[in-house]
Amino acid sequence: MNRAEHLTILAIETSCDETAAAIVRGRDETVETLSNVVSSQIPLHAQYGGVVPNLAAREHVANILPVVSQALREANVDPDDIDLLAVTNGPGLIPALLVGTDTMKTLSWLWKKPLVGIHHIEGHIYANFLVPPSGDTKASGDTEIRFPLLALVVSGGHTQLMLARSHGEYEIVGQTRDDAVGEAFDKTARLLGLGYPGGPAIAKRASSGEAGASALGPIRLPRPMIHSKDLDFSFSGIKTAVLTLVKKNKDKLSEMAFVDAVAREFQNACVEVLVSKTLRAAGMFAPKCVVLAGGVSANEELRRRLGEKLAETHPEIAYRVPHPAFCIDNASMIAAAAYFRWNNMSDRQRSSSVDSWKNLRADSNLKLAKES
Ligand code: KG4
Ligand code: ZN
Repeated sequence: MNRAEHLTILAIETSCDETAAAIVRGRDETVETLSNVVSSQIPLHAQYGGVVPNLAAREHVANILPVVSQALREANVDPDDIDLLAVTNGPGLIPALLVGTDTMKTLSWLWKKPLVGIHHIEGHIYANFLVPPSGDTKASGDTEIRFPLLALVVSGGHTQLMLARSHGEYEIVGQTRDDAVGEAFDKTARLLGLGYPGGPAIAKRASSGEAGASALGPIRLPRPMIHSKDLDFSFSGIKTAVLTLVKKNKDKLSEMAFVDAVAREFQNACVEVLVSKTLRAAGMFAPKCVVLAGGVSANEELRRRLGEKLAETHPEIAYRVPHPAFCIDNASMIAAAAYFRWNNMSDRQRSSSVDSWKNLRADSNLKLAKES
């Protein structure tokens, strides 16, 4: 392997309902995607209103090798060119994770390549530092990582404020006490009859129609824990308030204006709480950089409002959001995390990772950091 030049990485991600493989190339402090293949199972699970773990595993088994071959083909890379393999080994749905880890363990043994296991959330954080797809103007293009780094992690399973003092050194400084924010989007969408996944559906309805009042007068939902002095969150109360509202107004669910207004107020409530706690954490820890991570980081309103408030209150802090292509689950982000892990490994650790297929385990509850 030519370390001085660059490192070519093949990664796969199967923790939930996307079968994903990617090839990236890392050089110095930058990671560029050569291919990023994501096979989504959304239409399969949508009919059940959420992800069914065994069905997800069955689909991953059917898709994983075609997806890996496509990633190699699109990148114009063959197995000999690969320096490092990476796979998500948790957290997530165990039957789904096992498909990814077993596939990668087999490839590592067969090709005699080093293998590293990556925490799914660590991947989401590193999505911020992938070079945006070429010719795309939506991303900032600045991929430099600055520590200490504060990440607002918002996904279907997690809502956390995570402080990283350097590569691989994480501390959870705040987290949800009940539902994750993505879960609240999904449950609220179901209550409003908007289907699965709920996040994009709510965002779309929130941005359509007239802002403000419906025939009911203005709708107001709670902002749980917004004034608490800690950095924790709670989202189940907002969801329960939507349930009460919907029960009282069953006849209005067929009215576009009503659903739009509830979606808008729900999104506003979530965004306000997330922004307020992130600003509080920024004040407490003085990070050099704030990043968004996880599926909910695709939310335009959250991206925009956090950016505006940070610029107003902490103009010295750099603000990064992942390119839209890298917000939802994908394997490029897993490869990016693996690149920086590898860079910080000793020669001994590197050479022993050729054997890590022997003991790498999928763990549905894998932990990334100590909790403060
Ligand atoms: O990171 P992710 O793809 O999977 C997990 O690791 O959980 O996140 C999925 C979550 C779902 O709850 C989905 O509704 C939410 O991300 N999501 C969004 C948006 N796009 C996806 N939430 C709000 N606004 C969006 N635009
Ligand atoms: Zn995710």
